[in-house]
Amino acid sequence: MAKLFSPFILKDIQLKNRVVLPPICMFCGEDDGLVTDFHLMHYGTRAFGGVGLIIQEATGVERRGRITDRDLGIWDDSHIPGLKKLVKICKDYGAKIGIQLGHSGRKCRIHWEDLIAPSSIAFKDTKEPREMSKEEIVQVVNAFREGARRALEIGYDLIEIHGGHGYLVNQFLSPITNKRTDEYGGTIENRGRFLKEVVEAIRKEWPMEKPLCIRLSAEEYFEDGNHPEDIIKIINLIKDRGVDIINVSSGGLEAPREDEHQGHQIRYADIVKKGTGLPVIGGGYIISPHMAEEALQSERADLIFIGRELIRNPNWPLLADFALDNELDWPEQYKRAKPN
Ligand SMILES: Cc1cc2nc3c(=O)[nH]c(=O)nc-3n(C[C@H](O)[C@H](O)[C@H](O)COP(=O)(O)O)c2cc1C
Repeated sequence: MAKLFSPFILKDIQLKNRVVLPPICMFCGEDDGLVTDFHLMHYGTRAFGGVGLIIQEATGVERRGRITDRDLGIWDDSHIPGLKKLVKICKDYGAKIGIQLGHSGRKCRIHWEDLIAPSSIAFKDTKEPREMSKEEIVQVVNAFREGARRALEIGYDLIEIHGGHGYLVNQFLSPITNKRTDEYGGTIENRGRFLKEVVEAIRKEWPMEKPLCIRLSAEEYFEDGNHPEDIIKIINLIKDRGVDIINVSSGGLEAPREDEHQGHQIRYADIVKKGTGLPVIGGGYIISPHMAEEALQSERADLIFIGRELIRNPNWPLLADFALDNELDWPEQYKRAKPN
């Protein structure tokens, strides 16, 4: 059997295969972050297409933590019923589902919201954020905790903290965006403190036997920004608080993206896996099932994220199996469409 289609145990869940839909914002929530029929159809289709683990798009733990006013939210109990439907449809069609808890910080594009960040340094041409006070840090950490409480009630299988792509957690981690002189800035340990507190707060609600993932940008593409060795140090400082897996990405702080050749972020997944001893989700412009299989066989990643290719083709897992060793049973309704 192809490794891509072998099961993977992560704390109290077993994934049926190694294919992950990474978080991809759809920017089409209803007013105030509510789930729409689109989300049920969109995520349900990927579950039906055979994805092992779906990680729902960045979902705001605070109203001001959204990127746009069409993001999904989990800052209020009114979000729970819609998210419950979304989770149910994914599980009914055989996938496990996680939620990415996010806060945009200075990358919030909603002009009437209050922009907060570790330091008042603007992102590109957006307005200048306000430097967060200690009280605000406690507030936001608590918002992640409340998000985790709701996620448990809703029935998610996994929580992922959005710690990459230049959003709030990443703004604390990076020496480019964090110029604080208190215990949240300066040394790696200090820059990692906010993330550590978020992990601890989530773990007060999210039982240790349930998997907790962090998405990180292992390379920021700035000489004086974070590089894989810095990210490894940060993970190693906090992993014993209950971090189970790292979803390895890169970029998003401000710098131009690197050349996106196929599989371009797998090398960061490999470095993070070896440097932390934790399992990793790796990927980056992967289209070919053979490339995904090779990354698993060479133990550079434990799970593979397939982003835009799963947007183009929600049945990618079914066809990937066909291309590899053709062992999957297709869903009853689609059986007659299986290639010979
Ligand atoms: C439109 C769009 C929205 C995205 N939204 C998120 C997000 O909410 N959270 C996140 O961590 N990454 C997000 N990403 C990044 C993807 O998860 C993924 O890392 C990226 O698309 C690279 O993988 P791919 O080359 O397989 O598409 C987004 C990417 C795109 C194209």
